[in-house]
This record gives sequence, C-alpha cells and structure tokens, in this order.
Amino acid sequence: MKASVIEKINATNQKYLKHLVGKDIPQKLVDQINNMDWSYLDLIDQKEQTRGTFAPLGAMELSEIETKKEEFKAIGIKAMKECKVGAILLAGGQGTRLGFDKAKGMYNIGVNKDLYIFEQLIRNLQKVTDEVGAYVPLYVMTSDKNDVQTREFFAEHDYFGYDKDYVKFFVQEMVPAVDFDGNVLVEAEDSLAMSPNGNGGWFTSLVQAGLGADMKEKGVEWLNVFAVDNVLQQIADPVFVGATIQSGCVSGAKVVRKCDPYEKVGALCLEDGKPSIIEYYELTPEMAEATNESGSLLYGFGVILNYLFRVEKLFEIAEKKMPVHIVEKKVPYMDEEGNAIKPDTPNAFKFETLIVDMVYLMDNCLSFEVDREKEFAPVKNATGVDSVESARELLKKNGIEF
Ligand code: UTP
Repeated sequence: MKASVIEKINATNQKYLKHLVGKDIPQKLVDQINNMDWSYLDLIDQKEQTRGTFAPLGAMELSEIETKKEEFKAIGIKAMKECKVGAILLAGGQGTRLGFDKAKGMYNIGVNKDLYIFEQLIRNLQKVTDEVGAYVPLYVMTSDKNDVQTREFFAEHDYFGYDKDYVKFFVQEMVPAVDFDGNVLVEAEDSLAMSPNGNGGWFTSLVQAGLGADMKEKGVEWLNVFAVDNVLQQIADPVFVGATIQSGCVSGAKVVRKCDPYEKVGALCLEDGKPSIIEYYELTPEMAEATNESGSLLYGFGVILNYLFRVEKLFEIAEKKMPVHIVEKKVPYMDEEGNAIKPDTPNAFKFETLIVDMVYLMDNCLSFEVDREKEFAPVKNATGVDSVESARELLKKNGIEF
C-alpha cells in the first residue's frame, strides 16, 4: 500500500510530500493519497470549458406573477401538504471572503440581539410551513470542515424551533488543493489540504449519503436548493413552486433584475437552446448593455442561487459528468520546513463543480422574477458590497429585528 503511495509521490514529483519518502508515513496521509483522484492535477493545464452560443432568456415578471399569485400559491401549497417538496441548504462552503472561520450559517448578524444566519433561514422557512401546516424536509449539506460544528449548532439551538425529524445532514466530497505548480498542499504532518468540491456535487453527495431513499419514502418530487448566505432567502416559496409546476418545466430559478448592466451576478440565459448561466465576466460590453424594445437589459436577470429541480430529472442527469472549474483561493498549508503558512493572497487552485452547470443539464427552466429588496441580501464579504452591512440594511427594510 505504501509502495504505491511512494510511487505516486515520485512520479508526480510532489514538493510537499517528497521528504516523506523513506519515513513512516502516517496512515491518515497514506489513505488520503491513495484515495485522492490524481487526475485533478491534469486539469491545471487545461483551458476553461468552451461555451456554446448564448441567447437571452426573459423571465416571468413580477407583474404577471402578481396576477396569478393565488393560483400558483394553491398549487404550491397542495404539493407541500403532500410532502412533494424538499429543501436543500448548501452550507459546505468555506466563506473565505467573509473571513469567519466557522460555518457561515453560524455567523451572528445581530446587533441588539443574537441573530444567526441559520436561525434567520429557518425562520424564513417556518413562515411557509406555518402557513401550509406541514413541514418541508430540509437536507443540509456540510463539508468535512464544518459538519460536526454545524450539527452541534443546530442541536444546541434546538433546530431553531423546526422539527428535527425533518432535518437531515449530509457531507459533501473533498478534493485536494494544489499550489500553482501542481504540488498537492499538505495541511499538517498527517493530512493533505483538502477542500470542499464546490456546490455542484450536492445531489451525488445526497444520494451517496443514503438520503435518496429518505426522499423517495417521503414522496419528495421537487427540491428547492438554496445558498446559506442570503438572509432574505425565501425557501419553499409556494408561489414559485406552483408557478414551476404549472409551467411544465423540470426546473425553476429565482432571478432578480440586475441593478446595473455590469453587476457581478450570473445572468440566466440560453446556451445552445438550453437554460444556462452566463457569468458577468463572460458578457461582452455589447451583450451586457443590449436592451429590448422596452429598454430592459437582455441579459438582465441575475440568479440568486435559489433553484427548484424535479427529482426525477436529477436522477436522470446524475451520471453526467460536470465540468470542473479551477478556482484560485487562499489555502493554509505547511511548507517544506514544516512551518504553518496562512497566505494573505490566493496561493492555490481548488477544483469545484458548480450548481450553475447543473441548470444547463436541465432541458428547461422557468425564470421567475423576485423583488431583490425583499429576497436578496447576500452575505459574502465583511464590508462593502454584498456584506454584513448591506444585509443588515435589507433586514431592517423588511422589518426584521436584530
Ligand atoms: P460561494 O460560491 O459564495 O462560496 O458559495 P463560499 O465557499 O461560501 O465563499 P467564498 O467564495 O470562499 O467566500 C455559494 C453557496 O454554495 C455553498 C456555500 O455554502 C453557499 O451556500 N457551497 C460552496 C457549498 O455548499 N460547497 C462548496 O464547496 C462551495
């Protein structure tokens, strides 16, 4: 077993592992090296995926939704009463931009009283379940880095009043982080620096954790997937659920009208005729500023990481290979002399699959506009744009006390 590890270290000329050759390698490290997917290293020299031909995709706009609201809501509530809708909280990220070293959901956004991000999300969900009169199964994705603390936090806070039988946790997969020359980083003497594999692998991880059976048993047909970091996130929104079901689409995406053509959000569009997300940096100035006859931006509806997916379709696409994105991040590591280094600037590549690529695998998607002032308060940074400060402003505007 160790011989194969040494072969791998030598064959790939691994800078941070070389000194281990000839020594007694800790078993945990042997297992990690044996189990890791070395093919990730080959991706570093590859260019980003090529994209297809983009075309704009409109949205079901607020005015139209308003006129059909009660009809959609009745469909959504019926589905929820029949336990056909589950929710997936993506909470495996590391929140490096926020600079908070615990799970982001444990961040206390309160000023005059405690208000944890997880707490606010559960409150948002409870508003719906109280109205519906039935619980929505909630599946929380964590990573190896924050799984124990997240489970303990929920337990300590009595699941913020939610029925704990309807809350299940599962852990996403980890992948190695490498320096810019392709050397696998080491976190400690007995372990590699592993990172969560992005937010695109959630369904595979959910199924691997055995929760596919739980969903089937409960009769869950739709999953509402959402990010941990939007404190105004409306979860299992019956109007959105009803509109998506009625549309006949296999997926739906909540979108907000961009505040300017260059806002740093991905825009929902079509790529080779399929629903897709074009990132803000992929838009040419012509595309970013293009408008229709009524003056609205053609690529003007930004995604807020709140999607509804039909479970049947998720199983169908589960075997498809998703593109792996190479992202530059700050990853703490141990150098060759054994010093612990905490970098101030990005020093490593991480390998991630992204949920936006999952949307492309869906045949169709209802683009569903929501009011950004009421539903979009992301906490990405400590200060400035999409920060704790801006989220607090929006909480205040929505009458939420903190
Ligand atoms: P972000 O793309 O903002 O990543 O996540 P992040 O890791 O939380 O933050 P930064 O970039 O390091 O500052 C969007 C959503 O996807 C989840 C996050 O928890 C958040 O809900 N996510 C991200 C995962 O669940 N797993 C991942 O590996 C990455």
